[in-house]
Amino acid sequence: MKVLVPATTTNLGAGFDVFGLALDLFNEVEFSFDTKETTIESTGKYASDLKDHNLFFEVFRFFERKTGYRVPPVRIKQTCNIPVSSGLGSSAAVIVAALHIANEGTGRNLSREDLMKLAVELEGHPDNVVPAFTGGLVVCYQNGSHLDFEKFEIDLSLTFLVPNFPVCTNEMRKILPEKVPFEDAVFNIKNSCQFLAKIAAGKIKEALKYVGDRLHQNYRINDNKKMKEFVEAILSKNPEYWFVSGSGPSVCSNINDFEGIPYLKDVLKLRVNNRGMIVSE
Ligand code: HSE
Repeated sequence: MKVLVPATTTNLGAGFDVFGLALDLFNEVEFSFDTKETTIESTGKYASDLKDHNLFFEVFRFFERKTGYRVPPVRIKQTCNIPVSSGLGSSAAVIVAALHIANEGTGRNLSREDLMKLAVELEGHPDNVVPAFTGGLVVCYQNGSHLDFEKFEIDLSLTFLVPNFPVCTNEMRKILPEKVPFEDAVFNIKNSCQFLAKIAAGKIKEALKYVGDRLHQNYRINDNKKMKEFVEAILSKNPEYWFVSGSGPSVCSNINDFEGIPYLKDVLKLRVNNRGMIVSE
């Protein structure tokens, strides 16, 4: 059996923790239960950036605590095509794949919505895991046990600049302020609404004029010297738009000249994936 889970980008600037987008780059995870011991093997372009496979085991134990079902031993072969710790949803892809595997191994008792809620609880925010399941552009919010999301199918291609240093999302969340100036909150509300209004009107390219943010990006960029140099070099190219992908460090921007950008490791041109995770026997 096999499951393909897409990369995701989130926030899209102004929509902190609410906007998420699935991309056409997938981690491929093959699995079978004909084994006595759980083994996980990773190959692919970014496998060497993985420190360990603990997240798979963490998800299995979480699934067991929440459902009471016992996940049987499973042999897993993962192909890592999503950059690790780069703000493109590599952890979310593992969480989604592991929950799918756990559900398959215990009799498919949970619905997709049940799995999505578990994924949000594990990750702590919905904007990577929800589009990883559903595909498309997702506006999502989890209030207690109620997960609310709306999906828009859009045709869009985006360029992601991936640097050679990782960041840890949990650390990048801790540095955010508890309070923000009123005018900054208004700025983000205005941009999120404009962004979504353009999407709803089918004016996808125009939506990208409204990715400006004042709630998280500057705090994060100023906290990390490499991140600051990386973003400043991108801004020196006068891009029409740019935003930090998730909590960083990757940046999405429409520039074509990459000369002199420090730390740049990969440039990924990705289309929006409107289908979400793909399951095959
Ligand atoms: N919305 C989350 C954040 C996404 O910005 O912390 C992390 O991938």
